[in-house]
Amino acid sequence: MPEKKGKLILFEGVEACGKSTQRNWAHDYFAFIKGYDCIKTREPGTDEVSEGIRNLLLNPKYQGKVLPETELFLFEGSRAQFSNNILKPELEKGKIIFCDRFFYSTIAYQGFGRKLKDKKMIGLDTIDDLNHIASQGITPDLTIIYDLSFEEMSKRMKKQERKLDRIEREKMEFHERVKEGYLFVGNHYPNVYVLDGTKSLGELHEETIQIIEEELGI
Ligand code: TMP
Repeated sequence: MPEKKGKLILFEGVEACGKSTQRNWAHDYFAFIKGYDCIKTREPGTDEVSEGIRNLLLNPKYQGKVLPETELFLFEGSRAQFSNNILKPELEKGKIIFCDRFFYSTIAYQGFGRKLKDKKMIGLDTIDDLNHIASQGITPDLTIIYDLSFEEMSKRMKKQERKLDRIEREKMEFHERVKEGYLFVGNHYPNVYVLDGTKSLGELHEETIQIIEEELGI
């Protein structure tokens, strides 16, 4: 693989945890105040085909019809497109990438949420392998997870005016397992920070910037 010159920073967490706002604010700080060459991405998405897979995966029309395995492979398919067409070239150009979700979402949502970690033929090792294959060996330099309780998450989702997507509509037990999955990621993978998502947006922004500056020396 060509030398990776850029940096990949992930913003992760349960629904409505504030990760997208934090990603946007951190991007704007490093791009417009500190003058770095930065881009914003999201997963699934950003690449055209990956956006198409996203629409399929999140469409409420398929509620109750998508097998956990189908979900796993579609997210990995979307990831292969995204990694090859977006991450690889942008990292080679030396960009700092602020990415809304990446493969830790698969561990939390499909591994824990859909319980594929407990399936004999799958398990977390296989999910790690699939993540590695789909991302073409690209690994994040830093990951920040915004942790939130189910109660707080549903309060925030109720305030949103748009219709909920297929995964957001899942029941409480599913979202509780996803949260547990993120805490597992925080304890088992390198360069992962878990922040208290109930803090104010301003406080979380300051913590986020401080972690990025210290960890990446930028
Ligand atoms: P969001 O980017 O607006 O949060 O929506 C993406 C949804 O897809 C969210 O419910 C999390 C889910 N997801 C997975 O289940 N597995 C994955 O690997 C990824 C990247 C996302």
